[in-house]
Amino acid sequence: MNKTIIVSNRLPLQVQVNESGKVTAKPSVGGLATGMKSVHRDSNGIWIGWSGVKDEDLTLEIETKVNQAIEKEQCIAVKLNENDLDNYYYGFSNRTLWPLFHYFLEYTEFDKGYWESYVEVNKKFAEVVIAQAEEGDTIWIHDYQLLLLPAMVKEKNPNVSIGFFLHIPFPSYEIFRTFPARKEILEGMLGADLLGFHTYDYERHFLSSVKRILSLEVNFNEISYGNRIIKVDSFPMGIDYDKFKNAALQHQKQTEVEKSEIQKRLDQHLKEEAGVKMILSIDRLDYTKGIPNRIRAFEFFLKKYPQFKEKIRLIMLAVPSRSEVPQYQLLKKETDELVGRVNGEFSTVSWTPIWYFYRTMPFENLIDLYTSSDVALITPVRDGMNLVAKEYIATRTKEDGVLVLSEMTGASKELDDALLINPYNFGEIANTIKQAVEMPKEEQKRRMKALQKRVSRYSVEKWAGEFINSLKNVKQNLADVIDA
Ligand code: ADP
Ligand code: G6P
Repeated sequence: MNKTIIVSNRLPLQVQVNESGKVTAKPSVGGLATGMKSVHRDSNGIWIGWSGVKDEDLTLEIETKVNQAIEKEQCIAVKLNENDLDNYYYGFSNRTLWPLFHYFLEYTEFDKGYWESYVEVNKKFAEVVIAQAEEGDTIWIHDYQLLLLPAMVKEKNPNVSIGFFLHIPFPSYEIFRTFPARKEILEGMLGADLLGFHTYDYERHFLSSVKRILSLEVNFNEISYGNRIIKVDSFPMGIDYDKFKNAALQHQKQTEVEKSEIQKRLDQHLKEEAGVKMILSIDRLDYTKGIPNRIRAFEFFLKKYPQFKEKIRLIMLAVPSRSEVPQYQLLKKETDELVGRVNGEFSTVSWTPIWYFYRTMPFENLIDLYTSSDVALITPVRDGMNLVAKEYIATRTKEDGVLVLSEMTGASKELDDALLINPYNFGEIANTIKQAVEMPKEEQKRRMKALQKRVSRYSVEKWAGEFINSLKNVKQNLADVIDA
């Protein structure tokens, strides 16, 4: 039976080995892993990626345990060593591609060693994929860590169907052209038969770069490349809507003993501070997420509208991410300082304006936070999609709550019933926070219903189904052309 092979840098679970050699696994954080997990669960395929444990920590015994943990989830490991992680992952992926594709040119480092390692690691992935792929299989490659992989697999295995999806923005040609390896990157991507992006804008930017840098013929959304026709399209990624909705419904039925510590604290807050509105933000601690801007805008709001002192609270959950990259360390320091400054300036004996958590939390606690918050404040300065916005919507089973969303996210293209803001405009954010907390229930309901309609229709299952169907059609059309 033909299978779908998902390939991404990170597997949906991260294996960890403690000092006494105990192996544990926890779910990976980030839109790619959380979104694709349900697609993988419903397929009979395999998922290829890095387990989370580097080669240097793998004794024979530990490797067996790691493989057992991931094989249970139908995953297969690509082995990476410390040098790969330093140069391919922390280096080229996260110090070159990530900042460049998110328009942070000033953070982008072009380093020959990073590039060479990126090529080598993409080859390591290719070896594992080629060993697993059989005639008729579909290979679905994900994200910026593996941009060269489609061509490497296509070269060895021209008859296999290859799809590629980019989970981050594709930048405009004027940004992309600055990139020394621009030609190699595009040629790597063009090994795929179908290339998918979250939005039409990213698709357009990609096609424009292909036309100008590779001088290829582009006809609407099809690229002629040698004897192949490659299709490019936009597929806005959705979430496992029912999972979030059902978890929220279940959450409402919890008895006192079943409640988490966080939920008990939130309940206590409702009792003791009746009328205090909760504003929520959840992100990986990443400079693309606009976290300092959000805190400054919240500070500006408290200054501009002092009547809200003791009447509002920002709950900020930031998940540790890529902490070996200097910009992430600086961001952590800046965030700590800003939270300290705002809390120091505005706190009273009975009220702290910002509750800040720097950690990962289990799924149940995310649901506690989503369902207990009056407003979600999502302010990235650049974000390919932003699934947190969609998760907040899915958990609002009482059709209340307000989503304040940056217009720089892919999600904003679909969610025009949210209150859209420019994340650089503090005045606008402050006024929008006021509008959100004062919004009448009927307006909340009207907007939330429209948002829920959209997010429930375009779930992650639908997204994956459309991508795979489109890939099948590309292959079929190609076969028809060859037969004719
Ligand atoms: P990105 O992919 O850039 O991290 P997204 O908003 O698209 O941003 O996806 C983030 C994903 O990570 C969401 O599915 C969210 O539920 C999950 N997530 C965020 N914070 C946590 C956390 N503290 N613990 C567990 N999962 C989290
Ligand atoms: C974003 C990227 C993913 C990545 C995730 C977490 O969602 O698009 O490719 O896996 O962030 O980042 P990390 O570097 O921890 O894998």
